[in-house]
Amino acid sequence: MSLLELDNVGASYGAAPVLHGVSFSVEENDAAGILGANGAGKSTTLRAISGMVTTTGSIRFDGRDITGMRPDKIARLGIAHVPEGRGTLGDLSVRDNLRVGAFQQRDRKTVADDIEYCLDLFPNLRARIGSNASTLSGGEQQMLAIARGIMAKPRLILLDEASLGLAPSTAQNVYATIGRLRSEAGVSMVIVEQNAALAFRVVDHAIVLETGRISLQGPREKLMGMDEVRRAYLGG
Ligand SMILES: Nc1ncnc2c1ncn2[C@@H]1O[C@H](COP(=O)(O)OP(=O)(O)OP(=O)(O)O)[C@@H](O)[C@H]1O
Ligand SMILES: [Mg+2]
Repeated sequence: MSLLELDNVGASYGAAPVLHGVSFSVEENDAAGILGANGAGKSTTLRAISGMVTTTGSIRFDGRDITGMRPDKIARLGIAHVPEGRGTLGDLSVRDNLRVGAFQQRDRKTVADDIEYCLDLFPNLRARIGSNASTLSGGEQQMLAIARGIMAKPRLILLDEASLGLAPSTAQNVYATIGRLRSEAGVSMVIVEQNAALAFRVVDHAIVLETGRISLQGPREKLMGMDEVRRAYLGG
C-alpha cells in the first residue's frame, strides 16, 4: 500500500475543470515531482491533496480515503502543505510562526526541540528568531514557510515552488536541506518546482502535467533522458 494514492482525480474551481484523470502514488520515504508549464495544474494538484479544492476521483493517504475531507483534518493526519508565495504570518515573529506550525504539539519541550531542529536546518533563521516575519528577505521567508511545515512533523510534505525567487546558491541550499529532511526524518514529499534540474536532485520519480492531464510519468532517470523533458524543462 502506498502512502499517498491519487486515482483518476479531477479538480475544478467553481464550474471550471482544471485537472482530469490524474493518477499517481507516493511511497513511504519517497519524493515525487510535478513538472509542467504555468497554469498546467501543478498547484491545483497539491491543493487537491490537501483538501483546498473540490475534487472527483479518489485520494487515499495511509490507507484512508481523504477525498473531500476538510483541510484541517487532512493536516492533522500528517500532510503539510507549503503553498506557493510563502504564506508566512507577517505580523508574527519567526518563533511564533514556527509555534503555529506545531499546532498539534502541546508539550513545550518538544516544541522547543523542534524549533532548534528547524534553526539547525535553516541557520539563517536563527539570527532573526525574534523578528517579524514580514521583515525577512524573500529567501528567508521561503525558509520559514518550509520550516513551519516541518514543525507539524508531517509524514508527507507538499512543496510548491520552494526555489521561486531565490538566488541559485540559496535555492541549492534549500534543496540540500529538503534532501536532509527526507533522509533524517523520513518525510515523504511531493515537490512542484519550475527549476527541474533542482527538482531532479531530490525526486525519485515525477509526473509532467499538460493542461491538467498527465502527459509523461516515470522514474527520474527515464524522464531526464527524454528529449521532450530535456528541451522543455532542462534547457536542452
Ligand atoms: N482560485 C482559482 N480560481 C479559478 N481558477 C484558478 C484558480 N487557481 C488556479 N486557477 C486556474 O487553474 C489552472 C491551473 O492553475 P494552477 O495554479 O494549478 O497552475 P500551476 O501549474 O501551478 O501554474 P504556475 O506554474 O503558474 O504556478 C489555471 O488555468 C489557473 O488559471
Ligand atoms: Mg503553481
